[in-house]
Amino acid sequence: MLSSTNSATLLGVSALPVAVEANSGERGDPRVVLVGLPDATVKESLDRVHSSLSNGGFSLPRTRITVNLAPADLRKEGSAFDLPVALCLLASTKQLGHDLLNEFLIAGELGLSGELRYIKGGLSMAVLAKQQKRRGVILPVASAKEASLVDGIEVYGVSNLSQVVDFLNQKVALDAIRPSIFSTKTEKDPLYDFNEVKGQPKLRRAVEVAVCGGHNLLIVGPPGSGKSMVSKRIPTILPSPSMDEYIEIIKIYSSTGDASYMANGLNSRPFRAPHHTISDVGLIGGGTIPGAGEISLAHNGVLFLDELPEFKRSVLEVLRQPLEDGEVTISRSAGKVTLPSSFMFVASMNPCPCGYLGDPKNSCRCSIPQIQKYRSKISGPLLDRIDLHIEAPALAVTELQNFKKSESSEVIKRRVEICREIQRERFSKLKIKTNAFMPDSWIEKACLLSDENKQVLVHAMNQLSLSARAYTRILKVSRTIADMCNSVNIERNHLLEAIQYRNLDRKII
Ligand SMILES: Nc1ncnc2c1ncn2[C@@H]1O[C@H](COP(=O)(O)OP(=O)(O)OP(=O)(O)O)[C@@H](O)[C@H]1O
Ligand SMILES: [Mg+2]
Ligand SMILES: [Zn+2]
Repeated sequence: MLSSTNSATLLGVSALPVAVEANSGERGDPRVVLVGLPDATVKESLDRVHSSLSNGGFSLPRTRITVNLAPADLRKEGSAFDLPVALCLLASTKQLGHDLLNEFLIAGELGLSGELRYIKGGLSMAVLAKQQKRRGVILPVASAKEASLVDGIEVYGVSNLSQVVDFLNQKVALDAIRPSIFSTKTEKDPLYDFNEVKGQPKLRRAVEVAVCGGHNLLIVGPPGSGKSMVSKRIPTILPSPSMDEYIEIIKIYSSTGDASYMANGLNSRPFRAPHHTISDVGLIGGGTIPGAGEISLAHNGVLFLDELPEFKRSVLEVLRQPLEDGEVTISRSAGKVTLPSSFMFVASMNPCPCGYLGDPKNSCRCSIPQIQKYRSKISGPLLDRIDLHIEAPALAVTELQNFKKSESSEVIKRRVEICREIQRERFSKLKIKTNAFMPDSWIEKACLLSDENKQVLVHAMNQLSLSARAYTRILKVSRTIADMCNSVNIERNHLLEAIQYRNLDRKII
Protein backbone atom coordinates (compact mmCIF):
# COMPACT_ATOMS: atom_id res chain seq x y z
CA MET A 1 0.00 0.00 0.00
CA LEU A 2 1.30 3.44 -0.97
CA SER A 3 1.54 6.41 1.36
CA SER A 4 3.18 9.83 1.07
CA THR A 5 3.93 13.04 2.92
CA ASN A 6 5.79 16.31 2.44
CA SER A 7 9.17 17.23 3.73
CA ALA A 8 12.09 19.46 2.67
CA THR A 9 15.85 19.63 2.31
CA LEU A 10 18.08 22.68 2.71
CA LEU A 11 20.15 24.24 -0.05
CA GLY A 12 21.97 27.26 1.30
CA VAL A 13 19.41 28.90 3.55
CA SER A 14 16.35 27.89 1.53
CA ALA A 15 14.21 24.81 1.98
CA LEU A 16 13.39 22.86 -1.18
CA PRO A 17 10.36 20.52 -1.28
CA VAL A 18 10.91 16.77 -1.04
CA ALA A 19 8.08 14.27 -1.29
CA VAL A 20 8.50 11.17 0.90
CA GLU A 21 6.71 8.02 -0.33
CA ALA A 22 6.56 4.49 1.04
CA ASN A 23 5.16 1.40 -0.68
CA SER A 24 4.69 -1.77 1.37
CA GLY A 25 3.70 -5.30 0.43
CA GLU A 26 6.23 -5.64 -2.37
CA ARG A 27 7.79 -8.95 -3.38
CA GLY A 28 11.38 -9.56 -2.41
CA ASP A 29 13.54 -9.58 0.71
CA PRO A 30 11.63 -8.39 3.79
CA ARG A 31 13.47 -5.12 4.27
CA VAL A 32 13.12 -1.37 3.80
CA VAL A 33 14.94 0.07 0.78
CA LEU A 34 15.65 3.81 0.54
CA VAL A 35 15.99 5.36 -2.94
CA GLY A 36 16.26 8.91 -4.34
CA LEU A 37 19.89 10.09 -4.06
CA PRO A 38 20.10 10.11 -0.28
CA ASP A 39 23.51 10.95 1.24
CA ALA A 40 25.15 8.96 4.03
CA THR A 41 23.27 10.72 6.86
CA VAL A 42 19.94 10.03 5.18
CA LYS A 43 20.86 6.35 4.76
CA GLU A 44 21.67 6.07 8.46
CA SER A 45 18.16 7.35 9.00
CA LEU A 46 16.73 3.87 8.42
CA ASP A 47 18.57 2.46 11.45
CA ARG A 48 17.21 5.24 13.67
CA VAL A 49 13.71 4.80 12.21
CA HIS A 50 13.73 1.01 12.85
CA SER A 51 14.87 1.51 16.41
CA SER A 52 12.33 4.21 17.24
CA LEU A 53 9.51 2.25 15.63
CA SER A 54 10.21 -0.83 17.73
CA ASN A 55 10.76 1.21 20.91
CA GLY A 56 7.44 2.99 20.23
CA GLY A 57 5.64 -0.39 20.09
CA PHE A 58 5.20 -0.40 16.30
CA SER A 59 6.23 -3.22 13.97
CA LEU A 60 6.70 -3.57 10.24
CA PRO A 61 5.28 -6.52 8.24
CA ARG A 62 7.77 -8.97 6.73
CA THR A 63 7.52 -7.62 3.19
CA ARG A 64 9.77 -5.45 1.11
CA ILE A 65 9.00 -1.73 1.54
CA THR A 66 10.46 0.92 -0.77
CA VAL A 67 10.88 4.45 0.52
CA ASN A 68 11.43 7.10 -2.14
CA LEU A 69 12.63 10.67 -1.67
CA ALA A 70 11.59 12.73 -4.68
CA PRO A 71 12.74 14.48 -6.83
CA ALA A 72 15.51 11.92 -7.28
CA ASP A 73 17.98 14.38 -8.84
CA LEU A 74 17.96 16.72 -5.83
CA ARG A 75 20.82 16.09 -3.41
CA LYS A 76 19.41 15.51 0.07
CA GLU A 77 21.31 15.70 3.31
CA GLY A 78 20.66 15.60 6.99
CA SER A 79 18.61 13.69 9.45
CA ALA A 80 15.37 15.63 9.01
CA PHE A 81 13.78 12.84 6.95
CA ASP A 82 13.68 10.42 9.93
CA LEU A 83 10.24 11.52 11.06
CA PRO A 84 8.48 11.71 7.65
CA VAL A 85 10.00 8.35 6.66
CA ALA A 86 8.81 6.72 9.92
CA LEU A 87 5.32 8.17 9.43
CA CYS A 88 5.11 7.01 5.82
CA LEU A 89 6.17 3.49 6.85
CA LEU A 90 3.40 3.48 9.46
CA ALA A 91 0.82 4.83 7.01
CA SER A 92 1.77 2.34 4.29
CA THR A 93 1.31 -0.48 6.82
CA LYS A 94 -2.04 0.89 8.08
CA GLN A 95 -0.78 1.90 11.53
CA LEU A 96 -1.45 5.55 10.78
CA GLY A 97 -4.34 7.30 9.00
CA HIS A 98 -3.61 9.17 5.74
CA ASP A 99 -6.04 12.04 6.26
CA LEU A 100 -3.79 14.55 8.00
CA LEU A 101 -0.43 13.26 6.79
CA ASN A 102 -0.59 15.25 3.56
CA GLU A 103 -1.76 18.51 5.07
CA PHE A 104 1.57 19.26 6.76
CA LEU A 105 5.21 19.67 5.95
CA ILE A 106 6.96 17.28 8.35
CA ALA A 107 10.61 17.04 9.39
CA GLY A 108 12.55 15.84 12.43
CA GLU A 109 15.49 13.74 13.58
CA LEU A 110 14.61 10.69 15.65
CA GLY A 111 16.61 9.39 18.59
CA LEU A 112 16.75 5.62 19.14
CA SER A 113 13.87 5.69 21.62
CA GLY A 114 11.69 7.84 19.36
CA GLU A 115 12.47 11.25 20.86
CA LEU A 116 12.69 14.14 18.39
CA ARG A 117 15.75 16.34 18.04
CA TYR A 118 16.52 19.80 16.63
CA ILE A 119 17.03 19.96 12.87
CA LYS A 120 18.61 22.64 10.69
CA GLY A 121 16.36 25.04 8.79
CA GLY A 122 13.07 24.84 10.73
CA LEU A 123 12.24 28.46 9.87
CA SER A 124 12.95 28.02 6.14
CA MET A 125 10.75 24.93 6.14
CA ALA A 126 7.88 26.91 7.63
CA VAL A 127 8.40 29.58 4.96
CA LEU A 128 8.21 26.84 2.30
CA ALA A 129 5.07 25.33 3.86
CA LYS A 130 3.42 28.73 3.70
CA GLN A 131 4.41 29.19 0.04
CA GLN A 132 2.97 25.74 -0.70
CA LYS A 133 -0.26 26.81 1.04
CA ARG A 134 -0.05 23.90 3.47
CA ARG A 135 -2.00 23.88 6.70
CA GLY A 136 1.20 23.91 8.72
CA VAL A 137 4.42 22.24 9.82
CA ILE A 138 5.19 19.50 12.33
CA LEU A 139 8.70 19.86 13.73
CA PRO A 140 10.70 18.89 16.84
CA VAL A 141 9.94 21.28 19.72
CA ALA A 142 13.45 22.78 19.52
CA SER A 143 12.93 23.71 15.85
CA ALA A 144 9.27 24.73 16.08
CA LYS A 145 10.14 27.82 18.10
CA GLU A 146 11.89 29.55 15.20
CA ALA A 147 9.30 28.25 12.70
CA SER A 148 6.55 29.98 14.67
CA LEU A 149 7.92 33.33 13.46
CA VAL A 150 6.10 32.60 10.19
CA ASP A 151 2.51 33.70 10.56
CA GLY A 152 -0.53 32.35 8.75
CA ILE A 153 0.26 28.63 9.20
CA GLU A 154 -0.06 26.19 12.10
CA VAL A 155 3.25 25.28 13.72
CA TYR A 156 3.33 22.17 15.94
CA GLY A 157 6.28 21.34 18.14
CA VAL A 158 6.46 17.64 19.00
CA SER A 159 8.73 15.73 21.33
CA ASN A 160 8.45 12.10 20.24
CA LEU A 161 7.18 9.79 17.52
CA SER A 162 4.20 8.41 19.47
CA GLN A 163 2.92 11.94 20.09
CA VAL A 164 2.94 12.70 16.33
CA VAL A 165 1.20 9.40 15.55
CA ASP A 166 -1.54 10.12 18.13
CA PHE A 167 -1.95 13.64 16.76
CA LEU A 168 -2.20 12.50 13.12
CA ASN A 169 -4.59 9.69 14.14
CA GLN A 170 -6.61 12.45 15.82
CA LYS A 171 -6.40 10.77 19.20
CA VAL A 172 -4.85 13.79 20.90
CA ALA A 173 -5.08 17.49 20.12
CA LEU A 174 -1.99 19.71 20.18
CA ASP A 175 -1.78 23.47 20.56
CA ALA A 176 -0.10 25.33 17.71
CA ILE A 177 2.88 27.41 18.91
CA ARG A 178 2.50 31.18 18.95
CA PRO A 179 5.48 33.47 18.36
CA SER A 180 4.71 35.35 21.57
CA ILE A 181 7.04 32.96 23.38
CA PHE A 182 9.97 35.09 22.21
CA SER A 183 11.67 37.46 24.55
CA THR A 184 11.31 41.04 23.38
CA LYS A 185 12.95 42.64 26.36
CA THR A 186 15.64 45.21 25.67
CA GLU A 187 18.49 43.92 27.71
CA LYS A 188 21.62 46.03 27.79
CA ASP A 189 24.83 44.14 27.20
CA PRO A 190 26.17 44.19 30.76
CA LEU A 191 29.74 43.56 29.61
CA TYR A 192 30.36 46.51 27.36
CA ASP A 193 29.34 50.15 27.12
CA PHE A 194 30.75 53.12 25.22
CA ASN A 195 30.90 55.06 28.48
CA GLU A 196 34.06 53.08 29.34
CA VAL A 197 35.93 54.45 26.31
CA LYS A 198 37.92 57.49 27.38
CA GLY A 199 38.99 60.27 25.02
CA GLN A 200 39.21 59.37 21.31
CA PRO A 201 36.53 61.88 20.23
CA LYS A 202 37.35 61.51 16.52
CA LEU A 203 37.19 57.74 16.69
CA ARG A 204 33.89 57.84 18.55
CA ARG A 205 32.46 60.22 15.95
CA ALA A 206 33.65 58.08 13.01
CA VAL A 207 32.13 54.97 14.59
CA GLU A 208 28.80 56.75 15.02
CA VAL A 209 28.80 57.97 11.40
CA ALA A 210 29.63 54.45 10.19
CA VAL A 211 26.92 52.81 12.29
CA CYS A 212 24.30 55.42 11.35
CA GLY A 213 24.71 54.78 7.62
CA GLY A 214 25.90 51.14 7.74
CA HIS A 215 29.26 52.19 6.25
CA ASN A 216 32.47 50.18 6.38
CA LEU A 217 35.14 51.31 8.81
CA LEU A 218 38.89 50.78 9.25
CA ILE A 219 40.53 51.84 12.52
CA VAL A 220 44.30 52.38 12.41
CA GLY A 221 46.34 52.99 15.54
CA PRO A 222 49.19 51.92 17.81
CA PRO A 223 48.86 49.02 20.28
CA GLY A 224 46.57 49.74 23.22
CA SER A 225 44.85 52.75 21.65
CA GLY A 226 41.41 51.17 22.07
CA LYS A 227 40.74 49.80 18.56
CA SER A 228 39.47 46.42 19.74
CA MET A 229 37.79 47.99 22.75
CA VAL A 230 35.72 50.37 20.60
CA SER A 231 34.90 47.75 17.94
CA LYS A 232 33.54 45.30 20.51
CA ARG A 233 31.16 48.02 21.69
CA ILE A 234 29.64 48.61 18.23
CA PRO A 235 26.81 46.06 18.81
CA THR A 236 25.68 48.14 21.81
CA ILE A 237 24.77 51.07 19.55
CA LEU A 238 23.29 49.15 16.61
CA PRO A 239 19.52 49.56 16.24
CA SER A 240 17.43 46.46 16.94
CA PRO A 241 16.59 44.46 13.80
CA SER A 242 13.09 44.66 12.30
CA MET A 243 11.06 41.45 12.30
CA ASP A 244 11.91 40.86 8.61
CA GLU A 245 15.61 41.33 9.30
CA TYR A 246 15.37 39.06 12.33
CA ILE A 247 13.75 36.32 10.24
CA GLU A 248 16.53 36.61 7.63
CA ILE A 249 19.15 36.26 10.38
CA ILE A 250 17.50 33.26 12.03
CA LYS A 251 17.19 31.49 8.65
CA ILE A 252 20.95 31.72 8.21
CA TYR A 253 21.86 30.61 11.75
CA SER A 254 19.35 27.80 11.62
CA SER A 255 20.75 26.56 8.28
CA THR A 256 24.07 25.94 10.04
CA GLY A 257 22.40 24.17 12.95
CA ASP A 258 23.27 27.00 15.36
CA ALA A 259 20.33 27.72 17.66
CA SER A 260 22.34 30.10 19.88
CA TYR A 261 21.34 33.31 18.10
CA MET A 262 17.67 32.78 18.99
CA ALA A 263 18.58 32.71 22.66
CA ASN A 264 19.65 36.38 22.50
CA GLY A 265 16.09 37.57 22.02
CA LEU A 266 14.80 39.90 19.37
CA ASN A 267 17.05 42.86 19.95
CA SER A 268 20.59 42.02 19.02
CA ARG A 269 22.22 41.99 15.62
CA PRO A 270 24.99 39.54 14.79
CA PHE A 271 28.57 40.61 15.54
CA ARG A 272 31.05 38.16 14.04
CA ALA A 273 34.75 38.43 14.79
CA PRO A 274 36.51 35.46 13.16
CA HIS A 275 40.17 34.78 13.97
CA HIS A 276 42.77 35.71 11.36
CA THR A 277 43.56 32.04 10.69
CA ILE A 278 40.12 31.59 9.06
CA SER A 279 39.98 29.93 5.60
CA ASP A 280 38.23 31.24 2.47
CA VAL A 281 35.44 28.69 2.95
CA GLY A 282 35.07 29.60 6.63
CA LEU A 283 34.69 33.23 5.69
CA ILE A 284 32.48 33.19 2.59
CA GLY A 285 30.84 29.78 2.94
CA GLY A 286 31.06 26.50 1.04
CA GLY A 287 31.15 22.76 1.68
CA THR A 288 29.94 19.88 -0.51
CA ILE A 289 26.43 21.15 -0.14
CA PRO A 290 27.11 24.92 0.04
CA GLY A 291 26.42 26.45 3.44
CA ALA A 292 26.83 29.82 5.14
CA GLY A 293 30.21 31.24 6.20
CA GLU A 294 31.07 34.11 8.56
CA ILE A 295 29.98 36.83 6.10
CA SER A 296 26.48 35.37 5.93
CA LEU A 297 26.38 34.84 9.70
CA ALA A 298 27.14 38.58 9.91
CA HIS A 299 24.15 39.40 7.64
CA ASN A 300 22.20 42.42 8.97
CA GLY A 301 24.97 42.91 11.53
CA VAL A 302 28.72 43.46 11.73
CA LEU A 303 31.74 41.55 10.46
CA PHE A 304 34.80 42.58 12.48
CA LEU A 305 38.29 41.61 11.34
CA ASP A 306 40.72 42.54 14.10
CA GLU A 307 44.38 42.91 13.00
CA LEU A 308 43.38 43.01 9.31
CA PRO A 309 46.88 42.51 7.77
CA GLU A 310 47.23 39.22 9.68
CA PHE A 311 44.50 37.66 7.51
CA LYS A 312 45.67 35.78 4.41
CA ARG A 313 45.49 38.03 1.39
CA SER A 314 43.47 35.46 -0.55
CA VAL A 315 40.91 35.42 2.26
CA LEU A 316 40.60 39.21 2.16
CA GLU A 317 40.22 39.23 -1.61
CA VAL A 318 37.13 36.99 -1.51
CA LEU A 319 35.43 39.69 0.55
CA ARG A 320 35.37 42.11 -2.38
CA GLN A 321 32.32 40.82 -4.23
CA PRO A 322 30.06 40.38 -1.17
CA LEU A 323 31.08 43.81 0.14
CA GLU A 324 29.76 45.29 -3.08
CA ASP A 325 26.67 43.15 -3.64
CA GLY A 326 25.42 42.31 -0.14
CA GLU A 327 25.24 38.65 -1.14
CA VAL A 328 27.59 35.84 -2.06
CA THR A 329 27.25 33.17 -4.71
CA ILE A 330 28.90 29.80 -4.10
CA SER A 331 29.16 27.15 -6.79
CA ARG A 332 29.70 23.50 -5.94
CA SER A 333 28.95 20.25 -7.76
CA ALA A 334 25.84 19.92 -5.60
CA GLY A 335 24.53 23.20 -6.96
CA LYS A 336 24.90 26.96 -6.94
CA VAL A 337 23.51 28.96 -4.06
CA THR A 338 23.30 32.65 -3.34
CA LEU A 339 23.43 33.53 0.35
CA PRO A 340 22.62 36.91 1.88
CA SER A 341 25.68 38.74 3.27
CA SER A 342 24.75 42.35 3.76
CA PHE A 343 26.87 43.48 6.70
CA MET A 344 28.77 46.43 8.04
CA PHE A 345 32.50 45.73 7.71
CA VAL A 346 34.74 46.89 10.56
CA ALA A 347 38.48 46.24 10.64
CA SER A 348 41.41 47.32 12.74
CA MET A 349 45.14 47.44 12.12
CA ASN A 350 48.40 48.95 13.35
CA PRO A 351 50.00 51.60 11.13
CA CYS A 352 53.14 49.44 10.66
CA PRO A 353 54.50 46.02 11.78
CA CYS A 354 55.94 47.40 15.09
CA GLY A 355 52.78 49.44 15.60
CA TYR A 356 54.31 52.81 16.46
CA LEU A 357 54.57 54.69 13.14
CA GLY A 358 53.50 58.29 13.79
CA ASP A 359 53.36 57.75 17.56
CA PRO A 360 54.76 60.79 19.41
CA LYS A 361 56.14 58.77 22.34
CA ASN A 362 57.52 55.60 20.79
CA SER A 363 59.75 55.48 17.76
CA CYS A 364 58.94 53.17 14.88
CA ARG A 365 61.58 50.52 14.15
CA CYS A 366 60.25 49.49 10.74
CA SER A 367 61.94 50.06 7.39
CA ILE A 368 59.95 51.56 4.54
CA PRO A 369 59.87 48.24 2.60
CA GLN A 370 58.59 46.50 5.77
CA ILE A 371 55.82 49.06 6.11
CA GLN A 372 54.96 48.81 2.44
CA LYS A 373 54.81 45.01 2.62
CA TYR A 374 52.55 45.19 5.69
CA ARG A 375 50.17 47.69 4.06
CA SER A 376 50.17 45.87 0.72
CA LYS A 377 48.39 42.93 2.39
CA ILE A 378 45.31 45.08 2.10
CA SER A 379 44.82 45.60 -1.61
CA GLY A 380 43.70 48.89 -3.16
CA PRO A 381 40.33 47.46 -4.25
CA LEU A 382 39.57 46.31 -0.68
CA LEU A 383 40.61 49.65 0.82
CA ASP A 384 38.49 51.37 -1.82
CA ARG A 385 35.42 49.62 -0.37
CA ILE A 386 36.08 50.90 3.14
CA ASP A 387 34.28 54.22 3.44
CA LEU A 388 35.84 55.56 6.63
CA HIS A 389 39.51 55.24 7.57
CA ILE A 390 40.15 56.62 11.02
CA GLU A 391 43.31 56.99 13.03
CA ALA A 392 43.15 56.28 16.76
CA PRO A 393 46.18 57.89 18.42
CA ALA A 394 47.68 56.53 21.62
CA LEU A 395 45.80 57.78 24.65
CA ALA A 396 47.53 60.35 26.92
CA VAL A 397 47.90 59.25 30.55
CA THR A 398 45.88 62.26 31.69
CA GLU A 399 42.97 61.05 29.56
CA LEU A 400 43.21 57.54 31.02
CA GLN A 401 43.17 58.94 34.53
CA ASN A 402 40.04 60.93 33.83
CA PHE A 403 37.30 59.19 35.83
CA LYS A 404 34.45 61.06 34.21
CA LYS A 405 32.30 58.59 32.25
CA SER A 406 31.92 59.23 28.54
CA GLU A 407 28.60 59.21 26.72
CA SER A 408 26.79 55.89 27.16
CA SER A 409 25.84 53.41 24.44
CA GLU A 410 22.16 53.98 25.19
CA VAL A 411 22.37 57.70 24.31
CA ILE A 412 24.34 57.04 21.11
CA LYS A 413 21.97 54.25 20.09
CA ARG A 414 19.00 56.60 20.35
CA ARG A 415 20.67 59.00 17.88
CA VAL A 416 21.52 56.11 15.56
CA GLU A 417 17.89 54.97 15.59
CA ILE A 418 16.64 58.43 14.60
CA CYS A 419 19.10 58.57 11.72
CA ARG A 420 18.20 55.04 10.57
CA GLU A 421 14.52 56.05 10.57
CA ILE A 422 15.26 58.84 8.08
CA GLN A 423 16.96 56.29 5.83
CA ARG A 424 14.12 53.78 6.22
CA GLU A 425 11.66 56.41 5.00
CA ARG A 426 13.95 57.40 2.12
CA PHE A 427 14.22 53.81 0.90
CA SER A 428 10.73 52.66 1.92
CA LYS A 429 10.00 51.34 -1.58
CA LEU A 430 13.33 49.50 -1.86
CA LYS A 431 14.71 46.48 -0.04
CA ILE A 432 17.65 48.45 1.38
CA LYS A 433 17.74 50.12 4.77
CA THR A 434 20.89 52.23 4.91
CA ASN A 435 22.72 54.83 2.83
CA ALA A 436 25.66 52.44 2.47
CA PHE A 437 23.58 50.23 0.18
CA MET A 438 22.06 53.11 -1.80
CA PRO A 439 21.79 52.05 -5.48
CA ASP A 440 23.65 54.18 -8.06
CA SER A 441 20.33 55.26 -9.54
CA TRP A 442 19.52 57.03 -6.26
CA ILE A 443 22.77 58.90 -5.83
CA GLU A 444 21.78 61.79 -8.08
CA LYS A 445 18.54 62.50 -6.28
CA ALA A 446 19.57 61.69 -2.69
CA CYS A 447 23.11 63.10 -2.77
CA LEU A 448 22.68 66.33 -4.70
CA LEU A 449 25.58 68.80 -4.30
CA SER A 450 25.66 72.53 -5.00
CA ASP A 451 27.95 73.61 -7.84
CA GLU A 452 30.58 74.88 -5.37
CA ASN A 453 30.50 71.66 -3.40
CA LYS A 454 30.90 69.70 -6.63
CA GLN A 455 34.09 71.67 -7.23
CA VAL A 456 35.31 70.84 -3.72
CA LEU A 457 34.78 67.15 -4.39
CA VAL A 458 36.50 67.29 -7.80
CA HIS A 459 39.46 69.01 -6.16
CA ALA A 460 39.66 66.34 -3.44
CA MET A 461 39.41 63.57 -6.06
CA ASN A 462 42.40 65.01 -7.91
CA GLN A 463 44.44 65.69 -4.79
CA LEU A 464 43.86 62.26 -3.28
CA SER A 465 43.74 60.36 -6.64
CA LEU A 466 40.43 58.81 -5.61
CA SER A 467 38.63 56.20 -7.71
CA ALA A 468 35.12 56.48 -9.08
CA ARG A 469 34.03 54.05 -6.36
CA ALA A 470 35.51 56.29 -3.66
CA TYR A 471 33.61 59.21 -5.24
CA THR A 472 30.18 57.59 -4.80
CA ARG A 473 31.12 56.28 -1.36
CA ILE A 474 32.09 59.79 -0.21
CA LEU A 475 28.69 61.02 -1.41
CA LYS A 476 26.89 58.29 0.55
CA VAL A 477 28.85 59.06 3.73
CA SER A 478 28.07 62.78 3.23
CA ARG A 479 24.39 61.86 2.98
CA THR A 480 24.62 60.03 6.31
CA ILE A 481 26.37 62.96 8.00
CA ALA A 482 23.64 65.28 6.68
CA ASP A 483 20.97 62.86 7.95
CA MET A 484 22.62 62.84 11.37
CA CYS A 485 21.81 66.53 11.69
CA ASN A 486 18.47 66.13 9.92
CA SER A 487 19.58 68.27 7.00
CA VAL A 488 17.81 67.87 3.66
CA ASN A 489 20.82 69.20 1.78
CA ILE A 490 24.39 67.98 1.90
CA GLU A 491 26.28 71.05 3.12
CA ARG A 492 29.98 71.85 2.76
CA ASN A 493 30.89 70.67 6.28
CA HIS A 494 29.13 67.32 5.71
CA LEU A 495 31.08 66.77 2.51
CA LEU A 496 34.42 67.82 4.01
CA GLU A 497 33.98 65.49 6.95
CA ALA A 498 33.25 62.58 4.57
CA ILE A 499 36.34 63.42 2.46
CA GLN A 500 38.66 63.48 5.46
CA TYR A 501 37.64 59.92 6.33
CA ARG A 502 39.46 58.73 3.19
CA ASN A 503 42.91 59.45 4.61
CA LEU A 504 44.51 56.07 3.90
CA ASP A 505 43.94 56.49 0.16
CA ARG A 506 46.51 59.23 0.08
CA LYS A 507 49.00 57.98 2.67
CA ILE A 508 50.84 54.89 1.61
CA ILE A 509 53.41 55.43 4.35
N1 LIG B 1 40.18 54.97 24.94
C1 LIG B 1 40.34 54.12 25.96
N2 LIG B 1 39.63 54.28 27.10
C2 LIG B 1 39.77 53.45 28.13
N3 LIG B 1 40.62 52.41 28.15
C3 LIG B 1 41.35 52.18 27.06
C4 LIG B 1 41.26 53.04 25.91
N4 LIG B 1 42.10 52.58 24.98
C5 LIG B 1 42.69 51.49 25.50
N5 LIG B 1 42.24 51.25 26.75
C6 LIG B 1 42.67 50.16 27.65
O1 LIG B 1 43.67 49.43 26.97
C7 LIG B 1 43.26 48.09 26.74
C8 LIG B 1 43.73 47.65 25.37
O2 LIG B 1 42.98 48.30 24.38
P1 LIG B 1 42.65 47.60 23.00
O3 LIG B 1 42.70 46.12 23.15
O4 LIG B 1 41.40 48.15 22.46
O5 LIG B 1 43.88 48.07 22.13
P2 LIG B 1 44.13 47.92 20.58
O6 LIG B 1 44.12 49.28 20.00
O7 LIG B 1 43.18 46.95 20.03
O8 LIG B 1 45.61 47.39 20.59
P3 LIG B 1 46.33 46.27 19.67
O9 LIG B 1 46.83 46.98 18.44
O10 LIG B 1 47.48 45.82 20.51
O11 LIG B 1 45.36 45.20 19.39
C9 LIG B 1 41.77 48.12 26.88
O12 LIG B 1 41.27 46.88 27.30
C10 LIG B 1 41.54 49.20 27.91
O13 LIG B 1 41.70 48.68 29.20
MG1 LIG C 1 43.38 45.01 19.29
ZN1 LIG D 1 56.85 50.52 12.96
